[in-house]
Amino acid sequence: MDSTPIDYENLREYTMLEVGRHDGGAMISTLKLSLDVETNPSRRADILDELNNYSDRAWFVIYGLVIDVTDFRKRHPAGEYVINNCLGKNATEDFEDVYHSIRARSLLKPLVVGKIKGYDGDLTRAFRRSD
Ligand code: HEM
Repeated sequence: MDSTPIDYENLREYTMLEVGRHDGGAMISTLKLSLDVETNPSRRADILDELNNYSDRAWFVIYGLVIDVTDFRKRHPAGEYVINNCLGKNATEDFEDVYHSIRARSLLKPLVVGKIKGYDGDLTRAFRRSD
C-alpha cells in the first residue's frame, strides 16, 4: 500500500468542464463517427477542432478529488460498466450509494490526479466510511 500522504495543498486544480473532457474516449468515438458521415468541409474542420478538446483518459470526481480510473476500472470488483457510467462527472453519490469498504477507499489514493478548483468541502472525506 502506498503510504505517501497526499499533498492536498499542491494538487493540480481542474474545473468540472476539464474533468468532463476526460470521459475515457467516449466523445472522441462520437466525433470520429460523425467525421465518417460528414461531408461539409467547414463542419468537418469544426469536428476536427473539437476532437482536440477531449482526452481518452478516464476521470471522475469524488468529494472534490479528481480520480484517474483509466487503468483501475478494468480491475473494479463490480465491473467496468458501473465505473464507465460515471466518467467525466461527479461520481460522489454513485460511489456512496453502494457499500465501499475502507480498503476500497484506500485504493483511491494512488489514483488522485488533482482537485476541483474552488471546492470548499473536506478533501479527505472519500477515505472514511459514510455511516
Ligand atoms: C476509483 C473508485 C472506486 C474504487 C477504488 C472502487 C473499489 C471497489 C471495491 C474494492 C469493491 C469491493 C467491495 C469493497 O471492498 O468495498 C467495490 C464494489 C463495488 N463498487 Fe466500487 N469502486 C470505485 C468506484 C465505484 C463507482 C463510481 C461505482 C458506481 C456505481 C461503484 C460501484 C460498486 C459496486 C456496485 C460494488 C459492489 C458492491 C457490492 O457487491 O455490494 N464503484 N468497489
